[in-house]
Amino acid sequence: MKTQPFLAITSGFLAVASSLSAQPTLKEAFKNQFLIGAAVNQRQFSEQDARGAAIVKAQFNSITPENVLKWEAVHPQPDEYNFEPGDRYVEFGEKNGMTIIGHTLVWHSQTPRWVFQDAEGKDLDREALLTRMSNHIHTVVGRYKGRIKGWDVVNEALMDNGMMRQTRWLKIIGDDYIVKAFEFAHAADPNAELYYNDYSLENETKRNACVELVKKLQARGVRIHAIGTQHHNKLASPTLAQMEKTLVEFSKLGVKVCITELDVDTVASSQRNTSADVADVTRQTGTDNSQASGLPDDLQQKQAQRYAEMFALFHKHADKIDRVTLWGVTDADSWLNRPGRVNHPLLFDRNGKPKPAFDAVIKAANPPTIPIVP
Ligand code: XIL
Repeated sequence: MKTQPFLAITSGFLAVASSLSAQPTLKEAFKNQFLIGAAVNQRQFSEQDARGAAIVKAQFNSITPENVLKWEAVHPQPDEYNFEPGDRYVEFGEKNGMTIIGHTLVWHSQTPRWVFQDAEGKDLDREALLTRMSNHIHTVVGRYKGRIKGWDVVNEALMDNGMMRQTRWLKIIGDDYIVKAFEFAHAADPNAELYYNDYSLENETKRNACVELVKKLQARGVRIHAIGTQHHNKLASPTLAQMEKTLVEFSKLGVKVCITELDVDTVASSQRNTSADVADVTRQTGTDNSQASGLPDDLQQKQAQRYAEMFALFHKHADKIDRVTLWGVTDADSWLNRPGRVNHPLLFDRNGKPKPAFDAVIKAANPPTIPIVP
């Protein structure tokens, strides 16, 4: 059918008009600053959760797998890999032109007990565990070589007191297990970016320990592209000054910073506990259901203000930051919801609607210009 010139012009005009009035998206708003990512679950990347998938496609240009590439999921038994979900995850990212992140290779959590044991249940020795680590990393990183842009190679190796966490990895291999993990990952995909990822890096003791750790890795010739700082934050902690100090100190090491698991816990009784240790968070059960019927308006505003301030800070230091990733899409998906504990930590509510925090983040992308007083 021949298009009527008048109709063509009118529909062209309408398309422009509607795109102008449309709410800006997160990835558009920060396109000159950093990537903006979300941790996605299987229901989202398989598009079974169509609403969640649509939000991810519209708003984010990077994805992290919330669980499917963790050891217990991808390598549940010594001779069994389960790549089906990981393959779908990577395909989803490719189909939508996203920067695809891998999470995580070496961690104390969500790693089966057998990893550290022989067939008789006895602890492996250093060499045997290194071989197992190497095989796992080569198999998983190798499978997605050139497709996954960067990997959280080691997750949460430090304690809040700045000591190395006493994991099976450390006890059996010794403290060069981190160096080895990075070397294996680099050999498996020489072009992949490699990250060290941890939480509470805004606390001075842990920040300093991380700086020392990264210096040691660099002295051993390890290629580390960025430090991932998780940012499982509360309404008031850590402070902006703490966050800023961490960004600046890490950047002095010649590495980039990624904000890897951002959320803002709104539940009153969580505010006291500043630990983002998975074990601590999981233990907080049944203690506070005060937000089961929704997030009260004052807290909605408080959270929006908090997100605004954090993104203003990230914006200010955009030259140091590669990516800001939220740990989930809507409030309903968040790991911070526990039985008897409804939480509201993210930018989209349980109906998939942008919250005041979303608007605040978009605004922070375009800070008002400060008039120059002559
Ligand atoms: C969490 C997931 O969101 C949950 O679904 C899972 O049950 C436990 O792990 N730090 C990390 C993430 O590095 O892998 C954790 O993800 C949250 C804390």
